[in-house]
Amino acid sequence: MPKLVLSRDLPFAPSFDLAAATRGLEVVTVATGRSAQPEELREACRDAHALISMLSDRVDADFLAACPELRVVANYAVGYDNLDLAAARRAGIVLTNTPDVLTEATADIAFALLLGVARRVREGERLLRAGHFHGWRSDMLLGSELHGRVFGLIGMGRIGAATARRARGFGMRVHYCNRNPVAPELAAELSAERRSLDELLAEADVLSVHCPLTPETHHLLNAERLAQLKPSAILINTARGPVVDEAALVDALSRGALRGAGLDVYEHEPRVHPGLLERDDVMLLPHLGSATTETRAVMAELALANCLAVLAGEQPKTPIG
Ligand code: DGY
Repeated sequence: MPKLVLSRDLPFAPSFDLAAATRGLEVVTVATGRSAQPEELREACRDAHALISMLSDRVDADFLAACPELRVVANYAVGYDNLDLAAARRAGIVLTNTPDVLTEATADIAFALLLGVARRVREGERLLRAGHFHGWRSDMLLGSELHGRVFGLIGMGRIGAATARRARGFGMRVHYCNRNPVAPELAAELSAERRSLDELLAEADVLSVHCPLTPETHHLLNAERLAQLKPSAILINTARGPVVDEAALVDALSRGALRGAGLDVYEHEPRVHPGLLERDDVMLLPHLGSATTETRAVMAELALANCLAVLAGEQPKTPIG
């Protein structure tokens, strides 16, 4: 009986066990209500044929070498910087991810962060709960307008485009920096204008990060690039933490080099730079991009479908590469 290892339980995906059972799979869940430790995941996978991995699981050459039966690793995320693509290719292991199904949920979180920072939502709520709301005041917690401002995107894939649609809905102008120009229909729909990174940094009122984490994008937003932003700019990151040099961001914020930041992802996740924790101009979420009940259930179904396809000798729905 093929063995499928689930790195951690996915309780919101009720069809999972049934689907696995009807296909004759032994399903082993490594961790319940917490993330799997690297050693226990490796141990469980020694004789496994399929793995559903979380973005916090590092699946590298050493891991794959310890799991000789593995035929497929289905990453329960759209990002896959935790997987070693070259090592998997060498070992003949198929890798899959969960694109499309989490696009709208993640775009929503980017916008939640943007509104939270621009309109000082968190500060307002905290003030009220602390009993400091003593009546309307003309100067209380003034934020900044989004209408008419430039929404700048680094990366214009699916999630970038969905976030840009929201920006258009808020009356913003969309400028983007991407390796390739987007399709003419998408550019027309969003009235999107392509820019170089330097141009984008200088123009953006909001800079939203939507590129994958690769060696090229690691610390793409370093001290030098953060210094190119307008002092009124807001940075949003829902992609991967290490795209931003977190220490440089703290420094830039404390010097007033940008107006604020909304972050869902961190350079050393789950650790967050202490300098961010103490700032009022920063809104921080615990990597909630795809965290809706609906999206997480569909992600589970897609990851399972990918495993079942590979184990049946078929093409998975969403292979990586
Ligand atoms: C992903 O799927 O890569 C996201 O980071 C999850 O929120």
